[in-house]
Amino acid sequence: MSKIDFTGRVAIVTGAGAGLGRQYALELAKRGAKVVVNDLGGTRDGVGHDDAAANKVVEEIKALGGEAVPNHDNVATVKGGENIVKTAIDAFGKVDILINNAGILRDKSFTKMEEENWESVMGVHLKGAYCVTRPAFENMRANGYGRIIMTTSGAGLFGNFGQSNYAAAKMGLIGLTNVLKLEGEKYNVKTNVIVPVAASRLTEDVLPPEFFEKMKPDFIAPAVLYMCSEQCQDSGMIINATLGYFSRSAVMTGPGVIIGDGTKIPSPEEILENWDKIKSLENPKYFNQLPEMFGVLGPLL
Ligand code: NAI
Repeated sequence: MSKIDFTGRVAIVTGAGAGLGRQYALELAKRGAKVVVNDLGGTRDGVGHDDAAANKVVEEIKALGGEAVPNHDNVATVKGGENIVKTAIDAFGKVDILINNAGILRDKSFTKMEEENWESVMGVHLKGAYCVTRPAFENMRANGYGRIIMTTSGAGLFGNFGQSNYAAAKMGLIGLTNVLKLEGEKYNVKTNVIVPVAASRLTEDVLPPEFFEKMKPDFIAPAVLYMCSEQCQDSGMIINATLGYFSRSAVMTGPGVIIGDGTKIPSPEEILENWDKIKSLENPKYFNQLPEMFGVLGPLL
């Protein structure tokens, strides 16, 4: 089995002052990575800030003999993102690994979802990934090496009552990944996605107590570390992880049906008639990028 080693690698982990991010930062450092521990240190719903969150994890890493520096910027601003990346470059000279992990929750049923709760969750999860990834991607591209992790959620992939803001932001990260997977290809920059389920302050009132007890963040870190490694040659993977269970999710497309010959516009009644075939997911296909989808139109073009 080839060893996963991060000696000489520089990693940024956002939201690494607690929960999953802290676990990733500790495990990366134990395997030789120099780590920027970013955390704003606010509340679960994204209010306030406290430098102690990131500082404490840096101390933990140093106590284990590792190398780390803290950063307290907000991922949700362009300036914050640039400063997080600058922290890595100033301290360690480059960025090899970026784990977009910072997160908050503001759950409300949709009609009660005011703009402020929508914007703040979008800001941290989706804009936050843009703000930090853009300057990091630039450095990785220049160095011809990079490993980026996005953090999505089952709430977005499958749906979860009361989390419309969070689910929408988390699915935005899948679209972003689909494009970065293509734009990073030439430069050996791989972007993959983790779908964790783990005990943290975000899930303490979401997971049933008996699940919460068992679902330690430790179970997620191995999949994230692998996807951050040189050995990982895949890009665009969406990987579920919890408790030792690992699997891939993907957007798949059913076989569909062709109505007409590409010149006659089908009627809504023909859609009604063919609805079962249109929505069928039997023998689905995976398209790695948009133009591949045109392949199925063969007889119509
Ligand atoms: P957590 O609350 O323990 O950790 C999130 C960290 O992000 C906190 O330390 C917080 O201070 C930091 N943070 C929040 N806003 C920030 C900002 N604007 N800038 C910098 N740092 C900020 O929660 P957990 O569970 O460890 O979450 C980590 C990620 O995993 C999040 O993106 C979350 O949405 C995602 N996730 C977690 C699941 C779980 O089961 N715990 C399930 C699915 C997704």
